[in-house]
Amino acid sequence: MYKLLRDALFLFPAETSHHLALNSLKLAGLLGALGKSQALPGKTVRVMGIDFPNPVGLAAGLDKNGEYIDALAALGFGFIEIGTVTPRPQPGNPKPRLFRLPEAQGIINRMGFNNQGIDYLLENVRKASYQGIIGINIGKNFDTAVENAADDYLIGLRKAYSHAHYITVNISSPNTPGLRKLQYGDDLKRLLEILREEQGKLVQQHGRYVPVAIKVAPDLTEAEIRDMAGVFSTVQIDALIATNTTLDKSAVQGLLHADEQGGLSGKPLTQRATEVIRQFRADMDSQIPIIGVGGILSGQDAQAKLDAGASLVQVYSGFIYRGPELVRECVEATKKAG
Ligand SMILES: Cc1cc2nc3c(=O)[nH]c(=O)nc-3n(C[C@H](O)[C@H](O)[C@H](O)COP(=O)(O)O)c2cc1C
Repeated sequence: MYKLLRDALFLFPAETSHHLALNSLKLAGLLGALGKSQALPGKTVRVMGIDFPNPVGLAAGLDKNGEYIDALAALGFGFIEIGTVTPRPQPGNPKPRLFRLPEAQGIINRMGFNNQGIDYLLENVRKASYQGIIGINIGKNFDTAVENAADDYLIGLRKAYSHAHYITVNISSPNTPGLRKLQYGDDLKRLLEILREEQGKLVQQHGRYVPVAIKVAPDLTEAEIRDMAGVFSTVQIDALIATNTTLDKSAVQGLLHADEQGGLSGKPLTQRATEVIRQFRADMDSQIPIIGVGGILSGQDAQAKLDAGASLVQVYSGFIYRGPELVRECVEATKKAG
């Protein structure tokens, strides 16, 4: 059924079908066609002090403004991450900026954090009837200098704090110039210390601990992963999300759209993301959980991420190619493995 719908949707430019699909899903939800909005029963896990009904989540970027929370929840995800959201609304990069590479089951995007700003997203969170686990992914506006990035993350952290089960700090999008600089050395340490300190204040203020996860890129050398793992262990981040999209297009060379600028996701990323998870698991304090994401297109792929050391997984591109069936398959596969 999804295959038929997908073939029809794929006739449109990628971003048009994205909106068509999400709006149809929303409409189906409003008409009651999706049934009860409930996580599929799966392997329950406690991660970051939160009880997840199943370990399969929706990755950031599909619902950047939190406009489709209830409709997406009806598909059975164990958790939903919305955003990336920035302090102020911004249009993102000029279109076209989203490309499908169906032969490779891949996607290249250079959206550039198109979003309507954090106040609009929070309004949508308030309006949603979803009672499940929600992560809010925060970023910086494109016109905020990288040296001042902490200011934007602080705005995001403060505003999102009372609305999220966890907050993700995205320092790994390839489509905001300079952002990935924040992954290294003193820049990384300084940013994490600032956020940790603010989190401490917010705990006092709200009487509730909201974990902060850090999302990283797959384009890291072994030495860079070792250094970052050291910093994450020292600062004791609450979780690591690995990985974002890759700038390495070697796996799709020669295919239509392969030369488009932006980050590549989907099947061409599967192995690399799993490797990054495996290395962080080996190098980082074992108490810090990893959320594995990147090229999960089957239940087996989801289980491979858990085997490499992740405690939870997220999907994005696989969901575009396989639809809601992928969520079911991943929940089942990870349940069987106990
Ligand atoms: C169109 C598109 C938009 C994305 N936007 C975001 C985003 O706003 N924030 C973020 O942290 N990750 C974003 N991502 C990255 C995904 O969350 C995920 O980390 C990456 O695509 C790898 O997973 P996948 O292979 O299952 O897609 C985006 C990915 C795609 C394809």
